[in-house]
Amino acid sequence: MIGEKKKCIGLIFGGYSNEHEVSISSAKTVFQAFNSKINKQRFEIKAFYIDKQGNWLNSNLSEKILIDEIKNNKVKKQGMSNRERLNFLEGIEFQNIDIWFPLLHGFNGEDGSIHGLLKFTKKPLVGCGILGSALGMDKILMKTIFSNLKIPQVNYIVFHNEDLDDKEVKKNIIIEIIRKLNFPVFVKPSNSGSSLGISKVTNKSELLLALKKAWEIDPRIVVEEGLDVREIECGIIGQSKLLTSEIGEVRYDSDWYDYNTKYNLNNKIIIPAEVDSKITQKIKEIAIQSCRALSIYGFARVDFFLEKSSNKILLNEINTIPGFTKNSMFPMLWGASGLNIEQLVAKLVDISLD
Ligand SMILES: Nc1ncnc2c1ncn2[C@@H]1O[C@H](COP(=O)(O)OP(=O)(O)O)[C@@H](O)[C@H]1O
Ligand SMILES: [Mg+2]
Repeated sequence: MIGEKKKCIGLIFGGYSNEHEVSISSAKTVFQAFNSKINKQRFEIKAFYIDKQGNWLNSNLSEKILIDEIKNNKVKKQGMSNRERLNFLEGIEFQNIDIWFPLLHGFNGEDGSIHGLLKFTKKPLVGCGILGSALGMDKILMKTIFSNLKIPQVNYIVFHNEDLDDKEVKKNIIIEIIRKLNFPVFVKPSNSGSSLGISKVTNKSELLLALKKAWEIDPRIVVEEGLDVREIECGIIGQSKLLTSEIGEVRYDSDWYDYNTKYNLNNKIIIPAEVDSKITQKIKEIAIQSCRALSIYGFARVDFFLEKSSNKILLNEINTIPGFTKNSMFPMLWGASGLNIEQLVAKLVDISLD
């Protein structure tokens, strides 16, 4: 290691997504971890901020956002000079990057779009490829593959690109939901994140509003039977061989894990989750099986429901760019599994070079 040239990490954050703010918080944590004394010996880090309009900022300005020297909304108000704004494919700064670390949660990032763009640079990246990212983001396709593998999930139905402004279509959708599922139901856009666009619906009269809310984000919609569940999560890292972390449970005071609850500091994270060892084992097995099936590697967080009444394990979803703030489950799971945040980010880079 001594004498080895430092690897330059290109951290991409912000993004044209409804999870923009979360991405900034995640990037702050990762930026700090790469700047730790130990990691500075091996890595140099350059950050690239994408604003909510999709403009890329140069690394000087981007880094100022990460160390709170400027607020991201200030950049927007003041406007940017052409020198500060980058055209991705022309920006010579990109030539110096050895490994990309995209930390864009949600669409226009986690959905595989950033992975596609970065492929043109011919540099490795932390995380999985276009296919795994797109599948991990899309609840309809993810669920279809899990069904094929007979992995237990909650009952659900899907609606593809239906016109909710059409009276007849609306009526038929509502009839189908009532016929096939029991209340409460969860109405979700197929592509979103951080619970944005999701509603818990307890009766027929609330359905239309919930469908419209999801439809505004994505015209492909999932409706699921809502169960009374514990929420258990498992981290995975690796490429040719996937490793699982300890499993963790998140407990919160509100009715379900909606956007505000997710970023509430009063949530209780319990690692390892207090469940039977057979359940832990099964969850870890399904985590690996499901990531393999979707071509997900690098790093990911696999989320499960454990039905309270039956202790039944149900796979909920896989997040291919999970929250990476100090209070996020993913780094905490690995912390409890023997990798502190500095070791974790370095390990993720090593995996990307595997
Ligand atoms: N079928 C369900 N039964 C019970 N709770 C659910 C169900 N679906 C979603 N939820 C609640 O909504 C949260 C967000 O749903 P999820 O599908 O994970 O969306 P996101 O991708 O935005 O995280 C879950 O963590 C859980 O609290
Ligand atoms: Mg979730």
